[in-house]
Amino acid sequence: MLLLMCGMSKLLIANWKMNPVLPSEAVSLANKIGASAKKHRNVSIGIAPSFVHIPLLHKPKTLWLGAQDVFWENPENGGAFTGEVSLQMLKNLGVSFVIVGHSERRKNLGETDEVINKKLKMLVGSNFFNILCVGEPLSIRSKGFAAAKKYVANQLKIDLKGVNNFHKLGVVAYEPIWAIGTGKSDNPELASEMAEYIKKLTGADVLYGGSVNAKNAESFLEKPLIAGALVGGASLNSEEFSKIIEIASKL
Ligand code: PGA
Repeated sequence: MLLLMCGMSKLLIANWKMNPVLPSEAVSLANKIGASAKKHRNVSIGIAPSFVHIPLLHKPKTLWLGAQDVFWENPENGGAFTGEVSLQMLKNLGVSFVIVGHSERRKNLGETDEVINKKLKMLVGSNFFNILCVGEPLSIRSKGFAAAKKYVANQLKIDLKGVNNFHKLGVVAYEPIWAIGTGKSDNPELASEMAEYIKKLTGADVLYGGSVNAKNAESFLEKPLIAGALVGGASLNSEEFSKIIEIASKL
């Protein structure tokens, strides 16, 4: 995955969140996105379904299979961690990347930067590719862009504390919280400026996420400093997501 990232191609990640509800719908969506990926091999495309659907989508040929979270402990022989899923379990199902620190987990489950740091240490220590999500709430952004930068820098400082060589195994997804699922995407110029700032701080490539759709995808993806997109809502509609793939393939 990382080798693909090093080329000119853009990386598109479909974050399905707690969707779709039916297993058959997840299989069908993956097949449709997979078919579109087959036509545009110059784009790196990953899907992150719910844990329960991962075994049904075992190693789709043209897609990277990912998970939306992982536990920070990874004992080889399992362990007493009720409700959790280990990296080893995911690897056994053909998963090749993990999303960490999504704002919905930070908000709904109280996932702290310290918890995210533990997960990243485990993932990078296991040589596993990951996507770290950061981004400011509206209350911060309304104080200005400088305040947003400071907020994100602070998240990164804690999330990546003691995580060596993160940039070799991870990308950062900049997702302003107020832009997620609201239809109010960020200004592409400012998203690009934030991507440049994050790259300077971490050395890692940066994706943009937050209400990316077929209409606005080009305005983000055409920015050289934006390596790709993390797409939620629009990735649940195969036609819409295929359009985004097509746009990325032409850049
Ligand atoms: P959205 O979600 O595209 O629906 O705004 C993005 C995300 O939460 O990763």
